Amino acid sequence: MTLNKVVIVAIIATFLILFPPESFPFTSAVANDIQCLQSMKESLQDPFGYLTSAWNFDNITEGSICDFVGVDCWHDNENKVLNIKLSNMGLKGLFPLGLEMCTSLTGLNLSSNYFSGPIPLDIGQNLRFITSLDLSNNNFSGLIPPSLATCNYLGSLKLDNNNLSGSIPSDFGLMSLIHYFSVSNNSLTGPVPNFIKASPILFYANNPGLCGQYPLKKCKDIGSVSGNSNRALFFSGFLTGWAVTASLVIFICLFGKRGIALEKLITKKKNMKKKPKVDEKNLWPKAREIDNTHKMAKLERYITRIPFAELTKATANFSQDNVIGIGKMGTMYKARIPNGWFLAIKKLFNSEQLDRQLASEIITLGRLKHCRLVHLIGFRLEKQDIFLVYKYMSNGNLYNWLHNRISSEGDIIGYWPLRVKVAVAVAEGLAWLHHKCSFMVVLEKYLA
Ligand SMILES: *[C@@H]1O[C@H](CO)[C@@H](O)[C@H](O)[C@H]1NC(C)=O
Ligand SMILES: *[C@@H]1O[C@H](CO)[C@@H](O)[C@H](O)[C@H]1NC(C)=O
Ligand SMILES: *[C@@H]1O[C@H](CO)[C@@H](O)[C@H](O)[C@H]1NC(C)=O
Ligand SMILES: *[C@@H]1O[C@H](CO)[C@@H](O)[C@H](O)[C@H]1NC(C)=O
Ligand SMILES: *[C@@H]1O[C@H](CO)[C@@H](O)[C@H](O)[C@H]1NC(C)=O
Repeated sequence: MTLNKVVIVAIIATFLILFPPESFPFTSAVANDIQCLQSMKESLQDPFGYLTSAWNFDNITEGSICDFVGVDCWHDNENKVLNIKLSNMGLKGLFPLGLEMCTSLTGLNLSSNYFSGPIPLDIGQNLRFITSLDLSNNNFSGLIPPSLATCNYLGSLKLDNNNLSGSIPSDFGLMSLIHYFSVSNNSLTGPVPNFIKASPILFYANNPGLCGQYPLKKCKDIGSVSGNSNRALFFSGFLTGWAVTASLVIFICLFGKRGIALEKLITKKKNMKKKPKVDEKNLWPKAREIDNTHKMAKLERYITRIPFAELTKATANFSQDNVIGIGKMGTMYKARIPNGWFLAIKKLFNSEQLDRQLASEIITLGRLKHCRLVHLIGFRLEKQDIFLVYKYMSNGNLYNWLHNRISSEGDIIGYWPLRVKVAVAVAEGLAWLHHKCSFMVVLEKYLA
């Protein structure tokens, strides 16, 4: 097995996020995300006081909301919210409408609380970049908003154990990245959509009015269902889900070992179709094309393929001015996308085809999500070139931090404390890769 370079590069890039901002010019206050959390806090009843003192808006500085309980930011030093996780906190109230001000939100988890009332019908327009939405174990009622079908990135949707009624919007069948969809224990009626672009793990038991394929009753015959068959429905739903999950786990383990499963997954570059033209009006990263080969869709389930035109635009046609580093693997460019975010785009040298190994590395990286690892956001194959798109880490490169820290008086600034910090952070990243990560990663050489 050859060197797993991409993973190592990610670990090294990891170090760049360790340090506090010094004089980074790109951060500017984003009032919206602060107002978003403030309005959420005001609209919720919080009987156990989880947010009372933890979400303190008295003295907000850049990055301070990132330390709030349940809040992840895109960058630790920028008030731009990536995920909100307020699970199991005894929160009560209606769905917090202020969330629409968190315009860059990708994950929302309000599960196991006492929320009630409807899920706002325009949630899909307001949380456009959502990849994971968990509203399960609450008391939401009313319809499942059809607008969720327009969330192009939605991968996981959990609505089970609520009091939702009406039918599952048929447009859900067109969602292309959905891989987990659970609506068990609601009062839904009508047909289960036919998922034609994705094959999510489905949980829909205990909705007596649902119909569709076995084990559900046929859709023409919507009669009442007895308690017994309810339970049968639940168990068969559960068992199917469990079996699918188990095979997924096995599948993922094979990835790590570069097993045979992988071979089937990967599309050779030469087989890939000509990409459709990108609609310039679409906001990045909404503009993404869907290659209709099934295999590519599987790869995309883990990470997003990004239109080449967007990459070119964001880096001013790969201008030398935007080069932020040249490594063994390729040249790293800084990119600014229309919505104001920065990304780091790596153009790989002598990129071979999207071979088995590279594809495996891309998938592996796409799945590695840890605070000590730079998150791979997407990739792009264009003619002979391969581009990897990462979160942009604003603090420069590790080499400079370790070597160029000499003040004008000739002192070495923060030499040992810095090195200890780096060592600990590397250890955290490696420990996670070895022990916590749910699938296997083989590191063959440490460059640290
Ligand atoms: C806000 O916090 C900053 C740094 O944490 C501090 O310098 C400043 O005095 C604080 N302002 C107020 C009004 O407390
Ligand atoms: C939401 O949070 C709960 C509790 O931490 C967790 O069990 C659940 O998996 C989370 N949902 C998602 C979609 O990650
Ligand atoms: C759920 O909400 C409904 C109103 O929508 C209310 O009548 C009911 O009591 C709530 N149930 C629980 C368990 O909170
Ligand atoms: C479901 O909602 C109805 C009214 O919409 C309410 O009467 C009922 O109590 C709710 N069920 C639960 C379990 O909360
Ligand atoms: C549905 O509700 C039943 C009884 O309240 C519970 O035992 C079961 O775990 C629930 N199913 C899911 C998928 O949450």
